[in-house]
Amino acid sequence: MQMLSNPTTDDIEKAAKALIDGYLVAFPTETVYGLGADATNEKAVSRVYSVKGRPTDHPLIVHISSINQLGEWAIDIPEYAINLAKVFWPGPMTLILKRSKLAKDFITGGQENIGLRVPNKPIALALLKRFEKLSGYGIAAPSANRFGAVSPTTASAVNDELGAYLSDQDLILDGQQCEIGVESTIIDCTMISPKILRPGAVTSPMIESATGLELSEDHAKNQIRFPGFFKSHYSPKAKVSIGECALIGEGHIAMSNYKSLEGVVRLASPVTVEEFAKNFYAALRAGDQMGLSKIVVTPPEGGGLALAIRDRLYKASS
Ligand code: TXA
Ligand code: MG
Repeated sequence: MQMLSNPTTDDIEKAAKALIDGYLVAFPTETVYGLGADATNEKAVSRVYSVKGRPTDHPLIVHISSINQLGEWAIDIPEYAINLAKVFWPGPMTLILKRSKLAKDFITGGQENIGLRVPNKPIALALLKRFEKLSGYGIAAPSANRFGAVSPTTASAVNDELGAYLSDQDLILDGQQCEIGVESTIIDCTMISPKILRPGAVTSPMIESATGLELSEDHAKNQIRFPGFFKSHYSPKAKVSIGECALIGEGHIAMSNYKSLEGVVRLASPVTVEEFAKNFYAALRAGDQMGLSKIVVTPPEGGGLALAIRDRLYKASS
C-alpha cells in the first residue's frame, strides 16, 4: 500500500486509475475516512468486505460527485429526497433510495435500496470527478476501519486499522483530520416521509425545515433498525463506559467544564459539541494506544450533533 500525503492532481489521477483497475483507495471525507472501491466491480467490492472483515449482507454507501449522478443509481426518487440532496449535498448526509439496475446485490447486500452520498471534501470530490471522467459511476466506501471498530478520522488511523490487509497497489490518500468526525446522517427516503436511520451532522430540525415534512420516527429513542444493524459498533479495545467521572488509571473524555479526578488520563476536553465530535474517535484511539483498559465518556447534552455522539457512544459501550 502507498500513502499519498496532500495529494496533487497527479496523485488524484493515479488514485482514480487504481480504482478503475480494481484496487482499493482509502480517502478522506468531511465525516470519516472511507475505504473506496469501484461500486460496479464485484471483485473490488468483495475485497472491501474482506479487508474490513465485514459480513457481506451489510450494504455499502455509494459516493457520487453530484446530484446529477443520482439518477444512475436510484429510481422513483421522492420529491423530498431531491430537496434534501439540493440543500445538503455535498455534505454529511446519505440518502437511502430505491435502487436502479446499476446497483447490484453485492453493493446493497441483496436489498432493493441503495445508500448514496456526495461528500463535502475537496480531495474526495476531485477523486470522484476524475473517476467519473474515466467512465466510473460511483465509489463504494464504508468507513475505513475493521468491522465493529472505531472509524478513522486520520490517514494514520486508516493505516493502523487496515494497513496489514491492503495490497501493494492499494492507496491511502492523506487529507488531514476529518472536520466533522462522526459518520453521515443516514435518511431512509423509501417511504412517504423521511426517517433517520443513523443520526449525524444533518439533524432532524434541518431535515424537517428542508422538506417541510415531519420525520416518521423520533430518533431520540435510539431505535435504529436496518439490515445488518449491530448494536456493538464503533468500539475501541478499551471498555467504554458512560459516566460522570473516571477513576485513577482510567481514561476520560468530557466537555472542558467537567473536571477529572487526579490520576485520571484525560483524553479530550472539547469546548464545543462540534469539537467533541471531531476529536471523539481520535481520543478513543489514543486511549487504546496508551493501553488503557477503561475509558469513561461524559456525553454532551442536547440535540443535533450531540445526539449523534450519544448514538455512537451507546454502541461503543455495549
Ligand atoms: O460518513 C459516512 O457515511 C462514511 C463516509 C466514508 O462516507 N461512511 C460510512 O459507511 O459510515 P459505513 O459502511 O461504515 O456505514 C454505513 C451504514 C452501514 O451501517 C450500512 O448498513 C448502512 O449504512 N447502509 C448502507 N447502505 C444501506 C442501505 N441500502 N439500506 C440501509 N442501510 C444502509
Ligand atoms: Mg462504519
